[in-house]
Formats: sequence, C-alpha cells, structure tokens
Amino acid sequence: MHRLQDKISVITGAGSGIGRASALRFAAEGATVVVTDLFGDTAARVAQEITDQGGRALAMQIDNGDFEQVRSMIDLTLAQFGRIDVLFNNAANTNREDSLKGRNFLEFDPETFDTCMRMNVLGGVLACKHAIPHMLEQGGGSIIFTSSTGSLGGDTHSFNYGATKATMNWYVQAIAATFGKQGIRCNAILPGAVPTPAMLEWSTPAMLEAFRSVHNSPRLGEPEDIAMMALYLASDESRFVNGTLMRVDGGMSCMTPFASLVQQLATAPKPMQTAAQSAS
Ligand SMILES: NC(=O)c1ccc[n+]([C@@H]2O[C@H](COP(=O)([O-])OP(=O)(O)OC[C@H]3O[C@@H](n4cnc5c(N)ncnc54)[C@H](O)[C@@H]3O)[C@@H](O)[C@H]2O)c1
Repeated sequence: MHRLQDKISVITGAGSGIGRASALRFAAEGATVVVTDLFGDTAARVAQEITDQGGRALAMQIDNGDFEQVRSMIDLTLAQFGRIDVLFNNAANTNREDSLKGRNFLEFDPETFDTCMRMNVLGGVLACKHAIPHMLEQGGGSIIFTSSTGSLGGDTHSFNYGATKATMNWYVQAIAATFGKQGIRCNAILPGAVPTPAMLEWSTPAMLEAFRSVHNSPRLGEPEDIAMMALYLASDESRFVNGTLMRVDGGMSCMTPFASLVQQLATAPKPMQTAAQSAS
C-alpha cells in the first residue's frame, strides 16, 4: 500500500525545486497530483514526468498572487477529481528584482512588500479559504505551507521575505487551531538552504560555502529532503501532527549564533605568553 494511495493533492510552485520533488514523490506514493506553477510549461513538464512514470497528474498555470486564479485552481481540481485531500502551498515570489529591493532596509519599498505578501502569504491563505469547506464536507484534509528558517528570527538583508514567512507561520497555526477538531491539519515546513534555481539566483559560491559551514550536516539540503517531510505531513502517518513548524534545515537553527565562533577560537593556538606572565 502506498503512503498517499488515492489522495488528491494540489501543489503550488511545483514546476521546479521543492515543489517538483514533492510532486514526483507524492505521485510515486499513489497520489493524484495537480501540478501548478506560474509557468505553464514547467508545470506541464513535471506532470508529463509523472505520467511517464505511470502516475496521475494534471498541470495548471496558476499565479499564486492572482486571487481569481487561486480560486479556479481549487474549483477546477474539485470539478475534475471531486475532492482535495492535500493542499501544499509551496510557491513564493522568486522574482530577482523584488528580492534585490528587499535587501536594504533604508530602501524599504512598501509596494514590493505588498507583492511579496500577496504571493507568499495571501495566495496560500485564500487557497485554504476555498478548499477548507470541501475538506470539512469530506471529513478532513492536510494543508502544508513551505515557510523558511528565515521566519524564526530577525534578518540583516532580506526585509520582505522573512516577514512574509513569519506571517505565514501565524496563519498555519491559526488554521490548525480553527479547524483541527474537524480533522483538518495545517503544518509548515521550514527548510534550511536548498540550492534550487530560486536560491542559486541570488546566492554566490561564497554564500553557499558560508551556508555549508553553519549547517550541522555534511551537506546542504536537497529538494527531496523537503519532499520527504511534505510526504509525511500529507500522509495519515502524521495524523496527530497539527500546527507545527517543522525545521528541515540540517541542524542549522539548533545552535546559538556564536557557537561556531567560540569553537573556532577554542581550537586556535593560544597567543605567546610575555616574559612577565611566565615569571608570575
Ligand atoms: N531553496 C531554499 O533554500 C529554500 C529555503 C527556505 C524556503 N524555501 C521556500 O521553498 C519554496 C519553493 O522554492 P524553491 O527553492 O523550490 O524554488 P524554485 O525556484 O526551484 O521553485 C519555485 C517555483 O515557484 C514558482 N513560482 C514563482 N512565483 C510564483 C507565483 N506567483 N505563482 C505560482 N508559482 C510561482 C516558480 O515558477 C518555480 O517553479 C518557496 O516557498 C521558498 O520560499 C526555499
């Protein structure tokens, strides 16, 4: 028996990276996957990969920041398959210009903030609003959001992204609390650094090396690492897991920021003693 046998799942931002890996994994575990993405061609390619491997998939071109399109994503899924068991809100604004604009607090741009909030948070929250009445009718469902470890603290260079993900965490917990008794679970995954196209767009080799040094793991993340957590949260194995913020970050956020610095200093050679210190 597959872990998602006969479940109908919708994944946003599934044309690439974490969403694509999750779509392939869900399908391999027996789910029908509605593969949605801002770019129809990448969504279609992933759906084709799934059907080539004997799975069931439907591609849709959906802009998560367009609320009418978000509503149609849910309506079309219901029209086609009659239910939604898993809603995985994974898409985020990956526009490079917007991410660059968020880098300097003194150039904080409210319009870019609005765009990021719309795509990263509101699209997913509205997808929940439209899907939940049907999940209630069918007796339950699992909702997953891709948040970020960047939501857990302040930042010095990304003044839109982390704020949207922190807001997302609030909605994850609010939805979990509001509908948990009726069998709807809502959880977030907080990935560490996973060199997907979105991340490679803004990071440099030096940054990747720095990320590697703060992950308490032999390597950085891979999309499949996050997909495995999504699979668990989507499946009935996690039936008592609700409202959690699951860190899948290779141990990046399990230590205090100064731990690695102290470690380096502790193993550095001691400075030479002066003659006066040696005599005393
Ligand atoms: N890669 C990381 O290190 C990392 C870390 C923490 C969180 N995340 C989160 O993981 C999620 C997936 O990102 P990824 O790293 O796999 O990136 P990715 O670029 O590989 O995939 C993102 C996908 O989202 C799509 N997308 C962009 N804007 C969209 C929109 N408005 N509507 C619908 N789809 C849209 C893109 O076309 C792309 O296919 C994002 O929510 C991101 O914030 C990633």
